[in-house]
Amino acid sequence: MLALPSRSAYACDMARANCPTCQGGGWKVVERTTQGAQPLSADKPGGAAGEPKMVWAIPCDCTVGDRTERVLAKARVPERYRHCDFANYETDNEIENVPRAQLDAFNRSLAQAKLVVERFAAEFPVGNEHGLLLMGPCGVGKTHLAVAALKEIVLRGHSGLFYDYRELLKEIQDSYNAESQATEMGVLEPVLKAEILVLDDIGSSKPSLWALETVGHVLNTRYNEKRVSLLTTNFLDAEVTANSAAPAPAARVAGMRAPALDDSLTERVGKRIRSRLYEMCRTVEIFAPDYRKEIRHAGRFRS
Ligand SMILES: Nc1ncnc2c1ncn2[C@@H]1O[C@H](COP(=O)(O)OP(=O)(O)OP(=O)(O)O)[C@@H](O)[C@H]1O
Ligand SMILES: [Mg+2]
Ligand SMILES: [Zn+2]
Repeated sequence: MLALPSRSAYACDMARANCPTCQGGGWKVVERTTQGAQPLSADKPGGAAGEPKMVWAIPCDCTVGDRTERVLAKARVPERYRHCDFANYETDNEIENVPRAQLDAFNRSLAQAKLVVERFAAEFPVGNEHGLLLMGPCGVGKTHLAVAALKEIVLRGHSGLFYDYRELLKEIQDSYNAESQATEMGVLEPVLKAEILVLDDIGSSKPSLWALETVGHVLNTRYNEKRVSLLTTNFLDAEVTANSAAPAPAARVAGMRAPALDDSLTERVGKRIRSRLYEMCRTVEIFAPDYRKEIRHAGRFRS
């Protein structure tokens, strides 16, 4: 019997399920007389009448083709963000009618965030016992940076997953539905086990007790098993105002006010999760204008 590596024994789960050559197994046999080649007799697929052929298993072409696309799809990176990388994250934006000092502060904030996230990705998994929490207003490129890091890491062969916060909660909730094909564990297991998890836009839906427990369970389990998470959120900490009567310097320079207590991240995810996030993540604040609104549409600054 020809001993092809088992599917799970090698990284050939990138094979196409409907591939006519390997039928999704990820391996194809080629004739070769190298040491270790094995005889393939006429009664096996690919065998021919007469003397058994000497064959050797190699990864099927379908595993090599558009690998990037397949790796990103497997990591569930949404189409909209597939182009995001560090090279196309701009930190020298110009905006009309914004004073130079303020513009410089915005660009410094973007550059600093990019530096931290880029280093995180480059060093992964070494030295990454802490994840990152990217915090900032809409359109400053939090998801862009998170995806840039995830892409780099999964393309190096690590397992990673992108989940929108609401989407994850919805998938788990849907799995409770009796008609659903999915089970709660089927949804949760990859999320708990991925070497890196991007959880995008945490706090974006109104927290029900159930939602908070579920997210708490995901974050706790990952943390206890030393798996890092990269989170993004629109909600800021109210603590900056509560403790100091003034927003943090970066926010102040950017002309942003810290949120009222009832609109803070703590309010959205609960005290326990916020405090767990302090422990498991390095917080990276980004203060800049909405790229979608202020920059991309400012045609004269774009080619
Ligand atoms: N500094 C930047 N350079 C290049 N593209 C950027 C930059 N910032 C944002 N973008 C682009 O602008 C769009 C919006 O960015 P993104 O979705 O990452 O923002 P966000 O901070 O996650 O916003 P939200 O809080 O609404 O989720 C994306 O297409 C992203 O690629
Ligand atoms: Mg986002
Ligand atoms: Zn194949």
